[in-house]
Amino acid sequence: MWHRVKQFFAALTAEVTAADREFADAWLNAAERALFYAMNLPDQYHALQVARTARRLAAGRADVDLELLVRCALLHDVGKVKGDVSTFDKTAAVLANRFAPEKAEGWGRPGRGGRIANLRHALHVYFHHPERGAALVAAAGGDERLTDIIGRHHRPPAAGDPPELTILREADELH
Ligand SMILES: [Fe+2]
Ligand SMILES: [Fe+2]
Repeated sequence: MWHRVKQFFAALTAEVTAADREFADAWLNAAERALFYAMNLPDQYHALQVARTARRLAAGRADVDLELLVRCALLHDVGKVKGDVSTFDKTAAVLANRFAPEKAEGWGRPGRGGRIANLRHALHVYFHHPERGAALVAAAGGDERLTDIIGRHHRPPAAGDPPELTILREADELH
């Protein structure tokens, strides 16, 4: 968990280059690109890192659909939409989850408003971005395998998980 907090701060200085955008654009259709670029820059950077690492982890694995894996990685966090949650509230959500994981989820409530409402909204997004992202990708025409993996990326590993989901979780942990 600490590495998540650390990496979160490291990502604040993240940069997305023209080559990165070219990479993302090559794997995504127009509607999916719109979702990708609706994320904050640090989230875009994170998704690119996860995609590259996932691809490396899948090297030589005949059972992995590489295209599905990279597309999942690029889109897994699109439930975190830019401008929806401030950096301060996002940091607070990460820390609340670190220090009071059982309570933090219950504090979450969707809907922006005043200071407290925004903070609770940030917690809601933090805990529910997988389902949110899956719904956004489904609305953009994403197929069921893709939306299923995005929706489950923070669930504990389970029997029958597709290999792309297992690798995505592994790569996500590393970034
Ligand atoms: Fe996530
Ligand atoms: Fe992630």
